[in-house]
Amino acid sequence: MRKRSEYAEPYRIKMVELIRQTSRSRREEVLREAGYNVFNIPSQEVYIDLLTDSGTSAMSDNQWAGLMIGDEAYAGSKNFYHLRDTVSELLGFKYVLPTHQGRGAENILTTMLVKPGDRVLGNMHFDTTEGHIRLKGGEPVNLVIKEGYETATRHPFKGNIDTGRLREEIRRYGRDRISFINITITCNSNGGQPVSMANIREVSAIAREHGIKVFFDAARFAENAYFIKEREEGYANKTIAEISREMFSYADGCTMSTKKDGLVNIGGLFATNDEALYRTAGQWGIVYEGFLTYGGLAGRDLEAMARGLREVVDEAYLEDRIGQVGYLGTRLLEEGVPIIEPPGGHGVYVDAKRLLPHLPQSAFPAQAIVAELYLEAGVRAVELGTAAFGRKDEKTGEQVFPELELVRLAVPRRVYTDRHMDVVARALGAIAGRKDKIRGMKLVYEAPVLRHFTARFEPL
Ligand code: F0G
Repeated sequence: MRKRSEYAEPYRIKMVELIRQTSRSRREEVLREAGYNVFNIPSQEVYIDLLTDSGTSAMSDNQWAGLMIGDEAYAGSKNFYHLRDTVSELLGFKYVLPTHQGRGAENILTTMLVKPGDRVLGNMHFDTTEGHIRLKGGEPVNLVIKEGYETATRHPFKGNIDTGRLREEIRRYGRDRISFINITITCNSNGGQPVSMANIREVSAIAREHGIKVFFDAARFAENAYFIKEREEGYANKTIAEISREMFSYADGCTMSTKKDGLVNIGGLFATNDEALYRTAGQWGIVYEGFLTYGGLAGRDLEAMARGLREVVDEAYLEDRIGQVGYLGTRLLEEGVPIIEPPGGHGVYVDAKRLLPHLPQSAFPAQAIVAELYLEAGVRAVELGTAAFGRKDEKTGEQVFPELELVRLAVPRRVYTDRHMDVVARALGAIAGRKDKIRGMKLVYEAPVLRHFTARFEPL
């Protein structure tokens, strides 16, 4: 991989959106009003928004031009055929069902395949997938390798499935209790970590041996393919499109939130080569999303998506994209901020347990860092720790804490410059410098489900 200093962005900027850094006293007031939860802050009060890389990317001039040729027919829009042909060419799937976003496709897949009491095996299911599996009475099972939970251990493919544990699960529960295997590429929940081609191939072979279907949660497939090219033997001279096609050749289908590697602000899809599955998916799609050729989207959205999918597999784009995330990771390490190493594809994850070792998880250390970061520089990150994943045990009533206590700095695609990344790194460096003064948070309001979105806190 070339060093970041050896090349420049493979695009130039022809339109800008103004952003402003507010005063510290203003931010104190805004944060207090928001109950110390950055989900409650209006985006106009944020200087650099790293809440998510989903739906926040900058479209190209070519994508914007595509919006003008939206064919808004209810059935058979020309933009649908463009999207379908693009997906077939890039991913090798004949049947494509657009959906309003990724979770729409997950709903369709789990509605078709998950029966009460079933298990759905995967590396680490994203939370919406997990929600859909549970809603259908199933049990999501995470089988990522142990290095996937160790923030300081360097491993090139921390999103890999532990195939020993996979075989054990199949032996123990039998194929009739397993709905399908779901590989999330890249694996968002442990840091946007990639899955190797060898692992995908092996998981797929094990699945076939037992007649179990494999699907990808492919929101960040191009970033995964780039890591394979960079890190796995035998792929250095292959194109991203070739690598993508090989990855998908091991799957029976995929769900995709195109708000990430589709480079669009809204959209998703389900794709497969299995005609019978597509027909059933289409029936559910019509009820939940819309007719087969639009799936809750406008024709123009489908066009932007088709064009975005072609742009995202460009190697120069991916080098710049993943290079910027890596740059932020390097800067944070220089500032003495502990992160998941190596950084993944779409963001850098700060390890709050190591940054604030004096705080117990009951004091919401990751949430405290998110609040400090907003106060320090107007930067909005997201908590992926006790607020998001902690819960009360139904039987004992005791608090159960998640293994990982993280702050995610998700980087939107083609939106911020490296100097914005410097602002973020300096701010976290300043926080690390006065970490002993940080005392944590207490929860003063929580909703019964997905509490982190609406929770309110007070500083301890
Ligand atoms: N799968 C993965 C791996 C995701 O990261 C997401 C969304 C989804 C599925 C659901 O897609 O939002 O289009 O319905 N992730 C966003 C995030 C929300 O911030 O990581 P969606």
